[in-house]
Amino acid sequence: MNEKDAVTSRRKIILSGIQPTGTFTLGNYLGAVKNWRHLQEEYDCYYFVADLHALTVYHDPAARRKASRAAFALLLACGLDPEQSLVFIQSHVPAHAQMGWMLSCLSPFGDLSRMTQFKDKSAKHPEDINAGLFTYPALMAGDILLYQADYVPVGADQTQHLEFTRNVAARFNHVYGETFRLPEGYFPKAGARVMSLQEPTAKMSKSDENAKATIYILDDEKTILKKFKSAVTDSEAEIAFREGKDGINNLMTIYSAVTGKSLDEITAEFAGKGYGDFKTAVGTVVADELRPIRENYARLMEDKSYLDAEIAKGAERAAHIAERTLKKTMRKMGLC
Ligand code: TYM
Repeated sequence: MNEKDAVTSRRKIILSGIQPTGTFTLGNYLGAVKNWRHLQEEYDCYYFVADLHALTVYHDPAARRKASRAAFALLLACGLDPEQSLVFIQSHVPAHAQMGWMLSCLSPFGDLSRMTQFKDKSAKHPEDINAGLFTYPALMAGDILLYQADYVPVGADQTQHLEFTRNVAARFNHVYGETFRLPEGYFPKAGARVMSLQEPTAKMSKSDENAKATIYILDDEKTILKKFKSAVTDSEAEIAFREGKDGINNLMTIYSAVTGKSLDEITAEFAGKGYGDFKTAVGTVVADELRPIRENYARLMEDKSYLDAEIAKGAERAAHIAERTLKKTMRKMGLC
């Protein structure tokens, strides 16, 4: 805590978002959302469904509307408490798009061109390389800076975007005077990078064409166990975390992230046991962790009026907070 914070004993601000482009994966959960839940007690937390970011890839409008609502419900089902945290849908707060534009005017073309996510996504969809995909990091910087976040809990794949955010904030402060707090990433001890179960050198992702590669947090127990049983490992028979054992390393990471056990404890627990036993154990702890989420989600999706009310409440509260930094930024830039 710095001196100024100590004097005002200000609670630190946490902010993060997730795209509603399909059911969250185990990677989303262990890399980000599980952490979000634990941070609620200690910090002022703002969490949102990043539907504006999801516009960068074509999606049927009716499906998009449904997906944003489902993602909001999933966040609550994962344990985010809308009484304790501010949970909202990004596009319901116009300040995000406004801030995104202003910050895009301080975003160097060269920096944007170097973003790995831009390069990956444009290689994957060469038929739809749109400007939104390119300026995506400026929108994300706006999301974070609008709320003057101290920490941004994300998975390792967002590191470059966070660095970009800090650079834009520093540039703005230098050009227009001190305005933004520079945020820091907040990564889980285990689970910052959950890999595909079928190709453990690649990130576990929502859009993997191989259905066995990804655990979705709404998968039922049988499906989860089956996917873990068919996870790619190696031809040795030792449960140990080391280079060249990508599949086992990934399973150990997942087991560690769910149970809180260290890698050494896991090696000791499974000494002399086979990969089959280990895969079943990982599948079982994951299924046990996800079961209440699945049940909460089913319940929430049936309560239409509760969900509608929480979505509206979240938007109103978020807009109120975001507006303060937006107005300040506009004044500094000479817009009002
Ligand atoms: P998104 O929707 O791709 O992912 C949401 C969160 O899940 C993490 N994640 C993973 N963590 C570990 N292993 C994986 N395999 C894995 N896959 C995804 C991501 O790191 C992320 O934390 N740009 C963001 C959304 C966003 C945002 C923001 C985040 C928009 N504005 C402001 C933080 C702050 C994104 O696309 O996340």
